[in-house]
Amino acid sequence: MGGRGKAPNDLELEAGARAHFEDPQYYAETYDWRDEDVLYYRAIAEERGEVLEHGIGNGRVALPLARAGVKVTGIDHTEAMLDHLRARLVQEEPAVRKRVTLHQGDLRTKKLGRRFPLVICPFNAALHFYTREDVEQWLDRTREHLAPNGELVFDISMPLPKDLARDPNRAYRIAPFEHPNLGRVAYREHFDYDAVRQVLFVSMFFEPSPPKKSAKKKANPKQLTETFMTPLAHRQFFPREMEALLHYNGYEVREVYGDFARGPFVPASDIMVWHARPKKGWKR
Ligand SMILES: C[S@@+](CC[C@H](N)C(=O)[O-])C[C@H]1O[C@@H](n2cnc3c(N)ncnc32)[C@H](O)[C@@H]1O
Repeated sequence: MGGRGKAPNDLELEAGARAHFEDPQYYAETYDWRDEDVLYYRAIAEERGEVLEHGIGNGRVALPLARAGVKVTGIDHTEAMLDHLRARLVQEEPAVRKRVTLHQGDLRTKKLGRRFPLVICPFNAALHFYTREDVEQWLDRTREHLAPNGELVFDISMPLPKDLARDPNRAYRIAPFEHPNLGRVAYREHFDYDAVRQVLFVSMFFEPSPPKKSAKKKANPKQLTETFMTPLAHRQFFPREMEALLHYNGYEVREVYGDFARGPFVPASDIMVWHARPKKGWKR
């Protein structure tokens, strides 16, 4: 089955901004292979020596930056992700550990009272700002954290007509796999686009799957026994909309790339990498 259930709008969005990040081991197994974005952010952060990472998560980007000598301050609202990053930091050299400072909080409201030459918001974290007010608050907080000539860099996925048009009842399955916490699971996703709120709701279903025939007979104590669903809600920002939001919130767009090789942003691009700077003297 598809659909998003009957939660009130704000709870549905709140769940869609959090649930996927409550299992940091699974997040790490699923996304740690991604390195093009990490190399991109590392290169721009190394030029500046210090960065504030919005939505630092469990350090997929932050750890390589800190290992490269960059001082990283991070904000995230998900305690589980921050705890996992703290545990990962324990395994690092003391010098690396010392370069990382973590703050739990909401990117729309958290004020650190200091400025950075660079603020980054990698890997779709900005897709959790669902309303105009959310975006405005985030851009205000970002401005307060940027030093003169500082830059905001973030990447978000491009709304793709094929994703937005998917039938919510259709299951997109992948082959069963070993989940780090749940043993062997079958997995399917359903996509349901709300064209009014411009939010793509993804429902991720994890179902018990029989162990592989080759696996030892011993029962796996971690084995999942019941199906459960993790929601993820991603705001879909069309390019001209994001440009207007930045413009009317006092930012000058410096560059938009269509990939992490600084390739041009073209209709076939499936991501947008935005570089923006607060306009001097701009006031809300
Ligand atoms: C896709 S993850 C990115 C994590 C990491 N930067 C990476 O690239 O792997 C998005 C992160 O943003 C955090 N996040 C989403 N909305 C947030 C908000 N309003 N305030 C603080 N953190 C938020 C989530 O908890 C999650 O850790």
